[in-house]
Amino acid sequence: MATPKKIIITGGLGFIFSHVTEYFVKKGWNVIVIDNESAGSHPEIVDDSFTYHKMNVCDRKVIDLIRDEKPEYVIHAAAISDVDYSIREPYKTLEENITANLNLFEACRELPSLKKFLYISTDEVYGECEHPKKEHEIIFPRNPYSCSKAVGSIMRYAYDNTYPDLLDKTAETRFCNVFGPRQDTRKIMPLIKHSLETGEPIPVHNDGKGYREYIYIKNIPPAVELVLEKGNRTYNITQNDGFTVRDLIDRVEKVTGKKVNTFPEKRPGMDMKYQMDFSRIKDELGWKPLYTFDEGLKEYFAS
Ligand SMILES: NC(=O)c1ccc[n+]([C@@H]2O[C@H](COP(=O)([O-])OP(=O)(O)OC[C@H]3O[C@@H](n4cnc5c(N)ncnc54)[C@H](O)[C@@H]3O)[C@@H](O)[C@H]2O)c1
Repeated sequence: MATPKKIIITGGLGFIFSHVTEYFVKKGWNVIVIDNESAGSHPEIVDDSFTYHKMNVCDRKVIDLIRDEKPEYVIHAAAISDVDYSIREPYKTLEENITANLNLFEACRELPSLKKFLYISTDEVYGECEHPKKEHEIIFPRNPYSCSKAVGSIMRYAYDNTYPDLLDKTAETRFCNVFGPRQDTRKIMPLIKHSLETGEPIPVHNDGKGYREYIYIKNIPPAVELVLEKGNRTYNITQNDGFTVRDLIDRVEKVTGKKVNTFPEKRPGMDMKYQMDFSRIKDELGWKPLYTFDEGLKEYFAS
């Protein structure tokens, strides 16, 4: 029998990467999760189907841990991921997310077993998007969270270019807004679901005019696997299902036949539109999402 592929996932207990952890476990991979059980984490998924290290990846010990484990694949997804929190706590967000990125790049630059290091990023690194952004376009983050994520994107270019062992062994994904089970309750889709279930009003930023693209969680693990196996560039991941929050709420009200109660809130410095071009992952890697937005929406609101 072939030896199972070994993968380390930082932030593997969080919303998106708990699903990725379970996906690779189901595929028979040897999965090692590093997570510090902070905001957004789901420690209840921990069982003996994967190895778990409770650790803050800002701690330099993580470098030795990764080098000792000798994985073929490393995904770095651990991050403070809440924009509003990052606005209240810019120092902590930038310090933690940037230190975490640095430790992961340091761990991977001397890792002979490595086949691919995947850095997980976001559409927010582009800043305001007046057209669907392509991966080669300038990144212009406009809040502390997206700034901390963009630093990782820049580090990737620097490390890939400088250290021969990393050459062509790094990749990056930039997701649009992912939604699905286990998402942090402060994000828009879980808030809408909460309002539908309880009738409680939910905050809507800047008159609900913020335009975002949305993708269902079940499309993410296969896309991540594809990039790990075949990608060595940056890949936007979206299906171009974009809506203002106002339109999104209208759509959910139509699908569910129920009313979502809201109240207005202001977010300073908010980008009003994120949109990305995903032709690179489609054309170069042959990516096809498994779920349409509507299929995802129906499944999510029925769950
Ligand atoms: N949710 C989205 O729509 C979205 C969109 C684009 C990109 N992303 C990126 O995807 C990744 C996952 O996002 P998410 O929404 O699932 O986040 P999340 O907040 O649900 O999960 C983050 C996980 O990382 C862990 N973590 C945070 N800091 C850590 C540290 N210093 N050491 C160890 N563990 C730490 C947390 O405990 C948590 O389990 C992030 O890198 C985020 O920037 C998310």
